[in-house]
Amino acid sequence: MNSPSVLTPNPLLEPLLVIAAPNPRLRVKSSPVLLVDDDCRLLMDRMLDLVRAQNALGLAAVQIGADKRVVVVNVGVGDQAPVPRFLVNPEIIRRSRQRVISEESCLSIPGYVGLIQRSNEVTVRFLDYHGRPADLQASGLLAVCIQHEIDHLDGRLFTDHLSLTQRLSRRWEEFRFRRDARQSQAGHRQKRAPVIN
Ligand code: NI
Repeated sequence: MNSPSVLTPNPLLEPLLVIAAPNPRLRVKSSPVLLVDDDCRLLMDRMLDLVRAQNALGLAAVQIGADKRVVVVNVGVGDQAPVPRFLVNPEIIRRSRQRVISEESCLSIPGYVGLIQRSNEVTVRFLDYHGRPADLQASGLLAVCIQHEIDHLDGRLFTDHLSLTQRLSRRWEEFRFRRDARQSQAGHRQKRAPVIN
């Protein structure tokens, strides 16, 4: 039931709009949160609503124009349902040397998917939804997502990482092209091993 109360205008209740590249606001380093208060929690709630509505894995506050080091991720491990996590002032304090290449996309770069190489495991230190200090050890998709979102807080987009992976993938394509050409010249009809994505 709706109560006939008079609503006070609140800028946090305006509809959320995602800022798209190449808007220069996405290149600004976000400011640390000094206090995790109700306004900050409302921002995190609304960010999670947007992440869920867009079927995304995460969002950084800068993407909706809020200058705060706040990240929301909603990632499930394996077949598990997505778990919402709120990271305030997140900082990666450890990262694995082992790297993983995965497909990434971003609400701020609609329609673009790129192969990006990142650390396979990270430990992130942050303040949680209630402002309590916490550490989280993450691997796989969750680790990738956290790195992607923290990049946003430092004004970086996933496309900034493309050069190396693009070079690698182009080299692989060239290698395959040359190999296939050699094999067909030699009259080989070798069965190709399945490509594992
Ligand atoms: Ni993004």
